[in-house]
Amino acid sequence: MAVSATLAVNEAVERARRDGRTILPLGFGEAGLPVHPALRERLAGAAGANGYGPVAGAAQLLEAAAGYWIRRRLPTTASQVVAGPGSKPLLYALLQAIGGDVALPRPSWVSYAAQAELLAQRAHLIDTAPGQGGVPDPAALAAAAHRACERGHPLRSVLVTLPDNPTGTLADRDRVAAVCAVAREHDLVIISDEIYRDLVHDPARSYLSPAELAPERTVITTGISKSLALGGWRLGVTRLPASELGERLRERLLHIASEVWSSPANPVQQVAAWAYTEPQVLVEHLEASRRLHATVAGAVAEVFVAAGATLAWPQGGFYLYPDLSAHRDRMAQGWGITDSQGLARVLIDELDVATLPGVAFGDDPDALRLRVATSLLYGPDDLRRQTALVDDDPLALPWIRDGLGQLAAALARLTG
Ligand SMILES: Cc1ncc(COP(=O)(O)O)c(C=O)c1O
Repeated sequence: MAVSATLAVNEAVERARRDGRTILPLGFGEAGLPVHPALRERLAGAAGANGYGPVAGAAQLLEAAAGYWIRRRLPTTASQVVAGPGSKPLLYALLQAIGGDVALPRPSWVSYAAQAELLAQRAHLIDTAPGQGGVPDPAALAAAAHRACERGHPLRSVLVTLPDNPTGTLADRDRVAAVCAVAREHDLVIISDEIYRDLVHDPARSYLSPAELAPERTVITTGISKSLALGGWRLGVTRLPASELGERLRERLLHIASEVWSSPANPVQQVAAWAYTEPQVLVEHLEASRRLHATVAGAVAEVFVAAGATLAWPQGGFYLYPDLSAHRDRMAQGWGITDSQGLARVLIDELDVATLPGVAFGDDPDALRLRVATSLLYGPDDLRRQTALVDDDPLALPWIRDGLGQLAAALARLTG
């Protein structure tokens, strides 16, 4: 099995850089912001914590994560929380603990289907409606559940991403409610990946977790990689339902965790325990991050729209998912592009723009769609990233302005 497509594009960028080419890095989904100094200091202070600690995570972290969810209308006790070295391994362990076939939105984050494949579990890709990324179409989900049952391999779970990677959209409340109803009817566990929840661009936009509507069957995963830009610190948490199902999953999850990662990194847990209490300094840091993500994702969306792409406007995180099919004929004649893989290849090899092809997200290979990550435009180093974070007009900063200009020029060549 190939290395994850997102990591592969990062490596392609590094290779091109070594060849002396300046690649516009729109491929890798990293938050692209510096570590807040308060987090840095606390991590240094916790460096002496070299014991393994409990498999589920340190009590202080589990309490703090429970508090985080309580403040989001989700009553939670520490015993419902399990921490792990990132939400990615937690998702893998959850898929294994739940077992059976899983329904995934199409398109969806590259690793869900890859993890199911590693586990020899079947992934059913269910289309999403435009602007409703991350949540399978409820009627199609119900039909897939029926079909799977008839074939003797019933679906066991459905995964939703709120807000979504790759599309950057947040599905409407009625979609989420409809999927909860289907899950209940077909007895599916709902895995709700809420890693971008705190990065919904409009803070006034209402957010509905499936755990509010179907608390008995919803498992939430989240972490500090995106909201606090701490991807490399590797810490995620999962909230299990307060039900018999939740207890069963917890037992299996801890069994897997104890045999695979033992416990999350102890010093990181100590810092995360503080972060999940949501101190004012971090709330302000998060607000600034959210503003920057919204501003730059919006500006990149405008560049794509000006180039004739169609897209659902980004609403959370730092992604967008433009469709360039309006230029299909011209791109086929000019560049020999007939599918998303070819489109992404021409963009990186000929036009110095790294993106990911829609096919990496399970999308129709012939659709001319790309996943564009906008957060590495903030700059190549902490100084420029920090400047972007605090500047009133980040789009006027020379390196961000140049990045947007480079993108517009590349798209003009691609489609002209
Ligand atoms: C939708 C989604 N879920 C989960 C993850 C994994 O995050 P973590 O760093 O917590 O493993 C990512 C990271 O790119 C993601 O985009």
